[in-house]
Amino acid sequence: MKYGYFDNDNREYVITRPDVPAPWTNYLGTEKFCTVISHNAGGYSFYQSPEYNRITKFRANASFDRPGHYVYLRDDVSGDYWSISWQPVAKSLEEATYEVRHGLSYSTFKCDYNGISARKTLFVPKGEDTEIWDVVIKNNSDAPRTLSAFSFVEFSFSHIQSDNQNHQMSLYSSGTSYEDGVILCDLYYNTDDFTGFYYLASSFDPDSFDGQRDAFIGPYRDESNPLAVEQGRCSNKVQTCYNQCGSLHKQFTLQPGEEIRFNFILGIGKHEAARVRAKYQDFAEVDAALEAIKTHWDSRCNKFQVKSPNEGLDTMINAWTLYQAETCVVWSRFASFIEVGGRTGLGYRDTAQDAISVPHSNPRSTRKRLVDLLRGQVRAGYGLHLFDPDWFDPEKADVKPSKSPTVVPTPSDEDKIHGIKDTCSDDHLWLVPTIINYIQETGEEGFLDEVIPYADGGDATVYEHMKAALNFSAEYVGQTGICKGLRADWNDCLNLGGGESAMVSFLHFWALQEFVALAKHKGKAADIEKYTEMAANVREACEQHLWDDEGGWYIRGLTKDGDKIGTAQQTEGRVHLESNTLAVLSGLASQERGEKAMDAVDENLFSEYGLHLNSPSFATPNDDIGFVTRVYQGVKENGAIFSHPNPWAWVAEAKLGRGDRAMKFYDALNPYNQNDMIEKRVAEPYSYVQFIMGRDHENHGRANHPWLTGTSGWAYFAVTNFILGVQTGFNGLTVDPCIPTAWPGFEVSRQWRGATFNIKVENPDHVSKGVVSVTLNGEAIDGAIPEQPAGSVNTVTVIMG
Ligand code: NOJ
Repeated sequence: MKYGYFDNDNREYVITRPDVPAPWTNYLGTEKFCTVISHNAGGYSFYQSPEYNRITKFRANASFDRPGHYVYLRDDVSGDYWSISWQPVAKSLEEATYEVRHGLSYSTFKCDYNGISARKTLFVPKGEDTEIWDVVIKNNSDAPRTLSAFSFVEFSFSHIQSDNQNHQMSLYSSGTSYEDGVILCDLYYNTDDFTGFYYLASSFDPDSFDGQRDAFIGPYRDESNPLAVEQGRCSNKVQTCYNQCGSLHKQFTLQPGEEIRFNFILGIGKHEAARVRAKYQDFAEVDAALEAIKTHWDSRCNKFQVKSPNEGLDTMINAWTLYQAETCVVWSRFASFIEVGGRTGLGYRDTAQDAISVPHSNPRSTRKRLVDLLRGQVRAGYGLHLFDPDWFDPEKADVKPSKSPTVVPTPSDEDKIHGIKDTCSDDHLWLVPTIINYIQETGEEGFLDEVIPYADGGDATVYEHMKAALNFSAEYVGQTGICKGLRADWNDCLNLGGGESAMVSFLHFWALQEFVALAKHKGKAADIEKYTEMAANVREACEQHLWDDEGGWYIRGLTKDGDKIGTAQQTEGRVHLESNTLAVLSGLASQERGEKAMDAVDENLFSEYGLHLNSPSFATPNDDIGFVTRVYQGVKENGAIFSHPNPWAWVAEAKLGRGDRAMKFYDALNPYNQNDMIEKRVAEPYSYVQFIMGRDHENHGRANHPWLTGTSGWAYFAVTNFILGVQTGFNGLTVDPCIPTAWPGFEVSRQWRGATFNIKVENPDHVSKGVVSVTLNGEAIDGAIPEQPAGSVNTVTVIMG
């Protein structure tokens, strides 16, 4: 069953049936103002932080996405009314047709009902802290029609999200006023002239208005049948206390064939509304602002475009996967319909991984995140698992007085190892390859010398921060020399405490390999020696203690008592994805062991929806292994298809040279390929999700938690760098693909350091891997393709064989 299709010419996903089994969401905003919006126009806005500056209210429940940013229409002759988005009024789909186009940072809602067509486009202009609702209504009937339009948003009680749930005071801490066509909502606890005020305005002069939510909706009613709309007029009431809303109403008459255009503007700031309203009364400004959003994304997407025989891959890489990855980097991980802003800040490991994916399209945000993370690292080398970068910004101290700790948490040595309140064993390690990738992309080697404070005092250069990360993992090892599991490793639910994590040692090895390459590039002899030796020790420990000969795969780790997790002898949690994929991705496993390990992954973990995280799932609680053993079988970390490590398997197969297998794994997880089976998937087909129910669960195939998952960044990084094989290096660009044997070749357009490289890969012998020649602008190249002058357009031909 399908509900829509990909319109690749416009980089839009078009929903043709609005009765999708769950809200399908989009993100509006490219700078500070963000709205998470569903295909029903349900959702919420915030300014910079979903926890601290909540502009509109949302009642979290994944299957019920209200309230939202609605426009109601009413036929003032018959009294019949509807909404431009299907919900909340929800006319019968036999009487009305709806279409939603989720584009990159905008969404358009269309409705045809009873001779009236209506369109509403929501977006956040660049350089403004406002959301525009650009509305066009047309009379397609053969008689004049008198209609009313009403906006509706429900303002937050408080700028702090948690206060929206605590009605003891929050009911009495906001108020509305009305002046010159603008409803202004002020927050009693936040008197800041900017963040303490929200507004709703319109390009028209309203006939009536409501600032009181309860007057607009009416008693014992909801958004589907508001009293004001039913009666054809708002109450003209504003108030202090209780629930605030923004509704502006206008009546107009349209002759047959005539259309009217107007807009509503939702924004933040006490003195902003008049200026913004005047500006966007000029519709040319509205058009230009939307065009600027499209240009913004064109220029980002165009940094890497692919044309291959796999349409699903092209669709996702050329737009949606990059868009999702940028969403994670820019808005972090706490604003969706699942995570609704109750906690905020940065998850260390998530951010460090997200940031590996978009240094080419968004170097500024990538760099900012790297600095945030380096400031969140303690002198001992590990990262604060969950932290708010604003803790370290003295200018922000006033904005969040109640939330900012005065002292950065510094776990004691004991906590680091056994009590393990905060410290995870993997967080800091992801940062090392991410920083190196950023430098290879941008060439900004000076970043390595930048001095950045540690979270617990003192400072060091970026290069020294990286060494601290590597040293921490070398120090905190168990009896076998494998890294300690600490509170968790990448898997939040594997809580090994004093036990040991195979996955972290493989990750350590990967980070070491990357770092040694950097040290070589910088000519740091002592570091080359020290970290090469460290890597050799890690390799030895891993090969000696983690290979399960009987199974022919790598185990997942050891409990604190030394029991192995993930051996052929076990009936629960027998094979694991993270350890086997990272053993290969890191370059630690030999070709022979790597192939065996990945064969075991294919045999034991593959499904038509992607690779399971472990199998069979755990059925017996065991606190030496962790919370994972107490999660329902086939769900989340316990034997679901956990999306995030799936791309590690694509990289592993690409490194082994098995392009058919890499693509088999890629295709299984690709949401594009699940577009026609939404009865199973449920979630958006344009977004990766955190996890898909595994085969040990009755809803096998159901996808959960769209958008905010490291899968997007990893999927993008894996496909572009390892399957298509276009990699940046310190000294040049390399093209070393690993593709299905059926592919005759593919084309990539890649912008790097200001130059464009139009790359044509030919595969006449139908191999998966191997490059026999590379030419740059007709000249044979031996080694990496060197940097070219900014603005130049270059032709690269790669022959595989
Ligand atoms: C989601 C968390 O955000 C991420 O940090 C973690 O790695 C995965 N869950 C797996 O536990």
